[in-house]
Amino acid sequence: MPDLFPEDLERWHYFESKLTDIFNSFNAAEIRTPLLESTELFSRSVGNSSDIVNKELYSFLDRNKESVSLRPEGSASIIRAIIQKKQEHEKHKLWYQGPMFRYERPQRGRFRQFHQIGVEYLGFQEGVSEYELISMVLQINQSIGISDYKLKINHLGDANAKDSFCKSLVSFLEPHANELHEKDQIRLGSNPLRILDSKEKSTIELLKNAPNFEDFISEDSKLFLEDLVSAFKGQCDIQIDQSLVRGLDYYTGIVFETVSGQLGAQDAFLGGGRYDNLSKQLGGKEMHSIGFAIGVERIVELINIDDLNEKIKVGFIVSEKQINQKTYKIANDLRLANSCIILETFLSGGSLKSQLRKANKCGCNFAVIIGDEELKNNQAIWKDLEEDGGQKVLSLQELINQYTNL
Ligand code: HAM
Repeated sequence: MPDLFPEDLERWHYFESKLTDIFNSFNAAEIRTPLLESTELFSRSVGNSSDIVNKELYSFLDRNKESVSLRPEGSASIIRAIIQKKQEHEKHKLWYQGPMFRYERPQRGRFRQFHQIGVEYLGFQEGVSEYELISMVLQINQSIGISDYKLKINHLGDANAKDSFCKSLVSFLEPHANELHEKDQIRLGSNPLRILDSKEKSTIELLKNAPNFEDFISEDSKLFLEDLVSAFKGQCDIQIDQSLVRGLDYYTGIVFETVSGQLGAQDAFLGGGRYDNLSKQLGGKEMHSIGFAIGVERIVELINIDDLNEKIKVGFIVSEKQINQKTYKIANDLRLANSCIILETFLSGGSLKSQLRKANKCGCNFAVIIGDEELKNNQAIWKDLEEDGGQKVLSLQELINQYTNL
């Protein structure tokens, strides 16, 4: 469970600010749900046979001897919240963010506490919502300079199609169980669809002749999948992947993932899909649902923008003797006049020269310098630290105007 230091969070904040703009433009509203939920919520949604519930939940008995778990993902909690509020008949465009917990073996890009930012569209049947969410994914990637990625997509059909495919896969694999990798032999009994994701050579070889998902889904589903792919083909590397089933049991219909070759073994930085049956499964009314979640630790590694910090930085330099109410008031007035600018103060003092050095070192674009003379005359020096290094003397009112109009 890694700590996040200011130098890490610079990229996070940049990403978060881009995302909130995008969510606003799609009219998606934020929802926050608790970190702790009843364990049953996840066994009934993500699925008892999934690795996430089976092996990775952080669960414990609370003081009332009820089993509770730290959430491993966000979608189940959101459906629970909407059912509890009896709002399944309404339409919702929601986004959320926060830490998730999975007891996985830590490695690059895989943590036991990680963060997701996700979107859920509730109340929209298959159709335009798929187009809109994939457009949103493309826009997110573009906004932070990610262009080298693959969007894998598949259609799992409805619950019946998924079930028939699963049975057919088991019938095909059972006679060859010995040829499967040990891990996949276990999955054959518990969660056969996950075998399709296997990275094991012997399993991959065997799967070459296995039944195909597309033979089990309806013509309409196939056409919809093909239409989606052709709509986005010119904009990203989108590819149908028959083996994409995703690790959570609740999906039916379209599923998708974005992967990047720059991330190592844990290459998926976003995943999602449709899960129309979840609301009923959790005791609510029928509610069409589709969404995706981004792995923040993974996506921030891919941000490809030279200058993350677009904000202007001004160093506020006063000699130690003068750190008094008057100079504090000037700093305060400047911050009030333009809160978009970073006004950096050097609290450890030092000579004007050494403070100026510090201002240059920490990337200030300008400096406000107030020496004895300036303070006496209600003036300040405005110094350009970037272009020509020129400087001018301003009255305090002129200083505020200069700062406001930066
Ligand atoms: P997921 O594929 O399990 O889907 O997780 C989404 C993303 O979270 C992954 O693509 C990955 O980037 C990140 N992630 C998952 N586990 C870890 C980990 N241990 N360490 C770091 N990052 C991780 C879901 O969670 C679904 N709820 C997504 C969804 C929303 N489907 C519909 N709506």
